[in-house]
Amino acid sequence: MKKEIHIIYKEIETKDLARKLAQKILSEKTSQKPIVIGLLGDLGAGKTTFLQGFANGLGVKERVLSPTFVILRKFKIKRRFFYHIDCYRLKSPKELLDLGFKEIIHNHLNIIAVEWADKVKKIMPKNSIWIKIDSMGENKRRIIIDKLC
Ligand SMILES: Nc1ncnc2c1ncn2[C@@H]1O[C@H](COP(=O)(O)OP(=O)(O)O)[C@@H](O)[C@H]1O
Ligand SMILES: [Mg+2]
Repeated sequence: MKKEIHIIYKEIETKDLARKLAQKILSEKTSQKPIVIGLLGDLGAGKTTFLQGFANGLGVKERVLSPTFVILRKFKIKRRFFYHIDCYRLKSPKELLDLGFKEIIHNHLNIIAVEWADKVKKIMPKNSIWIKIDSMGENKRRIIIDKLC
C-alpha cells in the first residue's frame, strides 16, 4: 500500500474514503490474515467517524459508537470479526494486553481498528496500517493513510 494523502471537505467524504478502504481490504487476495489499523488524531479529528464508514464498508449493520468507556467492541461480519478499540482512557498498553489484544491481533479472522493507537504503539504489529487525521477547519480534514506512522 502506497502512502495516500487526502484532503476532505465534508464528513460524508471521510466515511466514503473509509468505506472504500474497508472494501479494498476485504477484496484483497491476502485478506486471510489479521488486519490492524492504528488511528491517530486529536479529540474530534474524526477517528470514530472514519470507523463508522469503515464498519459500513465491512458490512457491519449495527450503529458504531465510540467505545471510549468500554475500550473494546466486537462486531460479527461475514466470515470475520471487526474489533473497534479506543485507547483514550488507557493508562498503559498493559490494560489492552489484559483484554486479550495479543490473541485478537493474531487471529486471521480479525480486522482491528485502534483509536488513539499512539498510546499503545509499542504493542501494535509492525505491519499495521496507520491513519492520521488532522482537523484543518470546521469540516476540512487531512487524512493520511500509510504503512508507517
Ligand atoms: N470531514 C470530516 N470528517 C470527519 N468528521 C468531521 C468532518 N467534518 C466535521 N466532522 C465532525 O467532527 C467530529 C469528529 O468526531 P469523532 O469522529 O468522534 O472524532 P474522534 O473519534 O477523532 O474524537 C464529528 O462531530 C463530525 O461530525
Ligand atoms: Mg473517537
